[in-house]
Amino acid sequence: MKEPALKKNENSAYLKELLEYIHAMRGIDFSLYRQATVLRKLELRLQETKSRDYKKYLSFLKANPDELQALVRTLTIKVSNFFRNPVVFELLSSRVLPELAAEFGFLKAWSLGCANGEEPYSAAMIVHEFQSQENLSFVSHIQGTDIDPDAVGKAIKGEYSGEELFETKKRYIEQYFSKLPHQSGISDEHERYQIKDEIRSMVRFSSDNIMSMLLHNRANLGSYNLILCRNVLIYLNREMQEEMIRAIGDILYDKGYLVIGEPETMPESVRQKFEQPFPGIKIFRKRQSATAS
Ligand SMILES: C[S@@+](CC[C@H](N)C(=O)[O-])C[C@H]1O[C@@H](n2cnc3c(N)ncnc32)[C@H](O)[C@@H]1O
Repeated sequence: MKEPALKKNENSAYLKELLEYIHAMRGIDFSLYRQATVLRKLELRLQETKSRDYKKYLSFLKANPDELQALVRTLTIKVSNFFRNPVVFELLSSRVLPELAAEFGFLKAWSLGCANGEEPYSAAMIVHEFQSQENLSFVSHIQGTDIDPDAVGKAIKGEYSGEELFETKKRYIEQYFSKLPHQSGISDEHERYQIKDEIRSMVRFSSDNIMSMLLHNRANLGSYNLILCRNVLIYLNREMQEEMIRAIGDILYDKGYLVIGEPETMPESVRQKFEQPFPGIKIFRKRQSATAS
């Protein structure tokens, strides 16, 4: 006999249990993310696993350990590409790096939610170019962190398709990538590239939860003068977005820079801690007088 459908409140209780299970197993609290997106993404896994409600899906998840990674991969959207929103990288290269070199003499950068490494590697390329052009000893530390260990694994490997390089200028492709030998049966449209060791060695990757790090372990993180947190906050609920920007402000040096994603907005409550030197571009500089609150 067919089981009766769950009542709406029963399904919500199982949804809560499901989110708690992910939190317990993987340390990611998806109740702090935008719920509409979480529900839309969960629906995809329910369909894929032919689970008709959260109760059925939860049993499936507990019985099939591989499903947990598939679920986390679906919930953490990883769309990215090298030099995403190129104007940002042009300004970082022409205005921000020279300023940081003059002001600090070093770069300590962190890409939060770095996906498969495209963002910190793009930063490493402009830093490498800047160092060579200026013939400077401008010490740089670039870090990339993502919650998805598969994405971090791909970043460390440093192998990409031609499509992922579509916003990358030819000179960077020629200088910093090697084209991988062609595999038989794969068309020319699917060229693959390997990032060169000189760039790969400039970035350190880790798989971690940036929310736990910033909200519960801030005191041990040290300080940075460039933080890229692009297209990550948009998936969090409003309160979390504000808390995260506040926490990022606390680990930025005065006059250090924060870059957020094009579709993201700087919350009003923390706006006064930052100036926006390039009108319309989501690059913010921490004001000198701003203190942690
Ligand atoms: C849409 S991608 C953005 C990639 C890159 N920053 C960009 O703008 O192209 C969002 C990334 O944030 C990561 N992410 C989401 N929540 C996270 C968390 N709590 N800690 C670390 N990474 C997280 C996801 O795994 C995903 O790779």
